[in-house]
Amino acid sequence: MIKTETVDAEKFIDSANLKQARRKAAESRRQVAEGTGPGSEWLGWQRILKAPNDAELEKIDRKAAGIRQDADIFIVCGIGGSYLGARAVIEALHGLIPDHKPEIIFTGHHMGGNYLRQLLAYLDEPGETGEPKNVYLNVISKSGSTLETALAFRVLRQWMEKRYGEDASRRIIVTTGPEGGVLNRLVNEYGYDKFDIPDDVGGRFSVLTPVGLLPIAVSGIDIQTLFYGAVTKFKAYEKNADDVETYAALRYCFHEAGKQLDVIGSFEPELNAFSGWIQQLLGESEGKKGKGIFPVPAAYSTDLHSVGQMIQQGKRNMIETFLIVQEPLNNFNVPSASTDEDGLHYLNNISFHKINQKALEGTIEAHQSGGVPVIRVVLEKLNEQNLGELIYFYEFFTAIYVYMLNVNPFNQPGVEDYKKAMYRNLGKE
Ligand code: PA5
Repeated sequence: MIKTETVDAEKFIDSANLKQARRKAAESRRQVAEGTGPGSEWLGWQRILKAPNDAELEKIDRKAAGIRQDADIFIVCGIGGSYLGARAVIEALHGLIPDHKPEIIFTGHHMGGNYLRQLLAYLDEPGETGEPKNVYLNVISKSGSTLETALAFRVLRQWMEKRYGEDASRRIIVTTGPEGGVLNRLVNEYGYDKFDIPDDVGGRFSVLTPVGLLPIAVSGIDIQTLFYGAVTKFKAYEKNADDVETYAALRYCFHEAGKQLDVIGSFEPELNAFSGWIQQLLGESEGKKGKGIFPVPAAYSTDLHSVGQMIQQGKRNMIETFLIVQEPLNNFNVPSASTDEDGLHYLNNISFHKINQKALEGTIEAHQSGGVPVIRVVLEKLNEQNLGELIYFYEFFTAIYVYMLNVNPFNQPGVEDYKKAMYRNLGKE
């Protein structure tokens, strides 16, 4: 179960304004439901939940099971919406020092030549048993032409062909649009396994398609429960979406009041990558026509010792969103010590979860009294079901809130500008 707590943030907004915004949010929700808003040809992230394709979920599970049995390393090559969702879910459920086999490596999301060189060297090193590492590669690109991903794929494909010869084709899986583009051509030529990214699902809304589900399943996470967690939320919101409407209305009011930053943080390090996924979902959806609140991921308590000062006493131009997990991830306690030489006696045998919760409460209290409105998004527990719910919650929220700004949430025309300049600089015809 997940819920939002907005009461404290509502105190920062005039109640008549909030009431009016609530009506606007309800209107946006209708636009999403009826498919009458801009970009409505991109509502496939709802379609896939309305009529789940169980055969596809099973196909992904089967493929993932085969890879899990064989592989030491599974490389995910993609950028933006083609990797952030998978990374967010995998990190949330496996933690920051994962022990699952195969190891999952994300690449293709930058053009760091040094990183790629180091990656090849790492792949070349023998595994724990002294045998060569067993490697599979999943390239994910809806367009098939994104430079960061295409370059990394060229490097890795060549490595795979050199290492495995003809068997490389069996180890390369392509996730791309239904037709057209370079990747579909390569699939036809080399017989790679292929998963489709539906035409009506945009990159940042695609985590519950094979884009996110295959890597997540390869890591050993139960994708059926994750997917059906989102389905539960989808069905619930068909009946009543009051919490999403209130949250959207509130963020809209803060936007209109001139707030410029939304610091999205958690005290669970496992959720740092999830904040990154929300950052892309919101940022690429709302940042158009000179509008939007810039989403900034924050990792707590770490960042209290860096930008915390600014949140507390800097320019009063921000709101803050906390992703909160109620149940402890484990029962790890502070070990007791017989003496108080480190001054921590008062915390003997107290759980780290409890300490973290107290730090969270203290931080919210301090930030609010420092003039930062705080919104809480609370997960009862960190598991597949709740993450599925959270994914749909944020997708739905993003669509409703961005419609309120009179903006199409589903395109990203501005991204083309840097590409044009870059390709010109690179001398591309
Ligand atoms: O949300 C989006 O559409 C983008 O962030 C894309 O996911 C990103 O640009 C990668 O595009 P592609 O999958 O075509 O390589």
